[in-house]
Amino acid sequence: MADIETFKQENRVFAPPAELVKHAAISGMDAYHALNAEFAKDYEGTWARLAKDNLKWHKPFTQTLDESNAPFYKWFADGQVNVSYNCLDVNLENGNADKTAVIFESDDGKVTRVSYRELHQKVCQFANGLKSLGIKKGDRVVIYMPMSVEGVAAMQACARIGATHSVVFGGFSAKSLHERVIDAGAVAVLTADYQVRGGKQLPLKSIVDEALDMGGCDTLKHVVVYKRAGAEINWVEGRDLWLSDVVANQSDTCEPEWVDAEHPLFILYTSGSTGKPKGVQHASAGYLLWAVLTMKWTFDIKPDDVYWCTADIGWITGHTYIAYGPLAVGATQIVFEGVPTYPNAGRFWDMVARHKATIFYTAPTAIRSLIKAADADEKVHPKQYDLSSLRILGSVGEPINPEAWMWYYKNVGHENCPIVDTFWQTETGGHMISPLPGATPQVPGSCTLPLPGITAAIVDETGNDIPNGNGGILVVKRPWPSMIRTIWNDPERFKKSYFPEELGGKIYLAGDGAVRNKETGYFTITGRIDDVLNVSGHRMGTMEIESALVANSIVAEAAVVGKPDETTGESICAFVVLKRPRPTGDEAKQIAKELRDWVAKEIGPIAKPKEIRFGDNLPKTRSGKIMRRLLRVLAKGEAITQDVSTLENPAILDQLKEAQ
Ligand code: PRX
Repeated sequence: MADIETFKQENRVFAPPAELVKHAAISGMDAYHALNAEFAKDYEGTWARLAKDNLKWHKPFTQTLDESNAPFYKWFADGQVNVSYNCLDVNLENGNADKTAVIFESDDGKVTRVSYRELHQKVCQFANGLKSLGIKKGDRVVIYMPMSVEGVAAMQACARIGATHSVVFGGFSAKSLHERVIDAGAVAVLTADYQVRGGKQLPLKSIVDEALDMGGCDTLKHVVVYKRAGAEINWVEGRDLWLSDVVANQSDTCEPEWVDAEHPLFILYTSGSTGKPKGVQHASAGYLLWAVLTMKWTFDIKPDDVYWCTADIGWITGHTYIAYGPLAVGATQIVFEGVPTYPNAGRFWDMVARHKATIFYTAPTAIRSLIKAADADEKVHPKQYDLSSLRILGSVGEPINPEAWMWYYKNVGHENCPIVDTFWQTETGGHMISPLPGATPQVPGSCTLPLPGITAAIVDETGNDIPNGNGGILVVKRPWPSMIRTIWNDPERFKKSYFPEELGGKIYLAGDGAVRNKETGYFTITGRIDDVLNVSGHRMGTMEIESALVANSIVAEAAVVGKPDETTGESICAFVVLKRPRPTGDEAKQIAKELRDWVAKEIGPIAKPKEIRFGDNLPKTRSGKIMRRLLRVLAKGEAITQDVSTLENPAILDQLKEAQ
């Protein structure tokens, strides 16, 4: 990232407001240190205490952590829970039945409020409906749904009957969906006719049809369709069912299926360094425990809060901080169907003002694009809106550059709201390194310190600790309850990716580089150390995009690298060799457009390269290895200063220098 230099020099410090400190769950740094000391003294005992205090157990656990088959760690293994019970029934028992669980706002601004009692009923009917189709504990269910109460209810319904869900983001293509349905061995896909975003209807059901038509989805029996738009769709008799028919006449109570703590709650596919996405498998109790604790610690959630996480349920943030965490702590949350720029770029601020949101959690990309919009048009500047309800701001998914941090702090938080810059990953299940809003002095661009219980550290390639001030590899030294359990269908890849032998096989490798400040010990994430890109907070593997490109019959070879981008953090730059002579001028433009559309079809629009450069060849070593390092320099438009003597074909660098 271009901002790393600024990160290193950053020394502005912002203390949390005294009022917030006074009432915070972790109040002041002393409380933070005390909790850390408790973990240091008795790691397992502290987790056991928290698990007993924060979850309702159907059967209590007697063993906290089982390390006998490391790195396949087990937490609370002989205990039994149900995640949906802990998110819904517990609230009915706690006097929250009539409290608003979800304030749903549709793309066109229609607001629906759903109480905990109503959500419980909806989920129970949904769960009974799924059961009536023969879906049972351990079955996998793919959810390809828009942001909606039904989407959240679908996840909760699966959890209630012990089915393992795999949510696929609605922006993924038929091919990506197909790959996930097959890998998960799904028995059903839950979807909608269309999704509505930015005033447009975008198809979902027809993409499901296309995916299933690709063949090989032998386990799949049902497609359940939520009618969102009411527009025409294709129908396959015997396979397709309307959600309204599936839930009609179903009882609004449903006894939860009690599952072992380690029962797989969900699989969520994410990108790694090979072409094939990884099915990150999470457990039930440990995952939920950390969702609850981080809602309390990082967001300091209180009964009167109106909490809003702008993520999509298709990503891990939408799992932990929409579908599970907020419900498990009985919060009132906003769920938003649309996009930040429709009907105009003041939409987020307008919604904060209208719903009196108190906690607002979004991605740096969104902030950066709203800064641009506010600069261009005063009318959508946050100062036009009453944002005085806000008390905590959050950032997630990518590094936040200090300039964007300061703008967020001043213009949205009015210098009175701490910003929790939460570092975490699909694999970690919940926040790992983040300021605590009522304790940690914040430094723009730094995710500050590990949360209590999280043994994050920075090491070298062989696993030795690196002193503060020096960059290295981010690891977590001890297992924690919400960690990834395995990669679905691929335990070997799990071990190799996250617990490599070079680091001893027992410490978790995050895949990011990081540095700690010499004086404060604060962490700054310096970016991925593998072939994973982060574009607008969306994680993508360079190999995945390269495989998509070479799957096109005109492409001979492709290499994809990230390029720093002011708005999206990183952008995708592809270097392509065609099977025909290298195109130039209008022809190059035309082919580049075709290839971009091709990638959108293969993976999804989020994976479209922003820039495509054509060459007669790619820079390679004599042994044929593509020198991506050099391509990254070329993509940035910088001059190559490295030694290129090992290159087979140094002349190619000149050709690839220019964007076409
Ligand atoms: O590189 C880190 C970056 O996002 C990656 C994880 O992506 P994903 O699994 O899609 O999860 C995103 C939502 C948690 C990380 O390896 N990342 C995430 N949060 C931050 C971040 N980089 C810097 N600062 C953050 N706060």
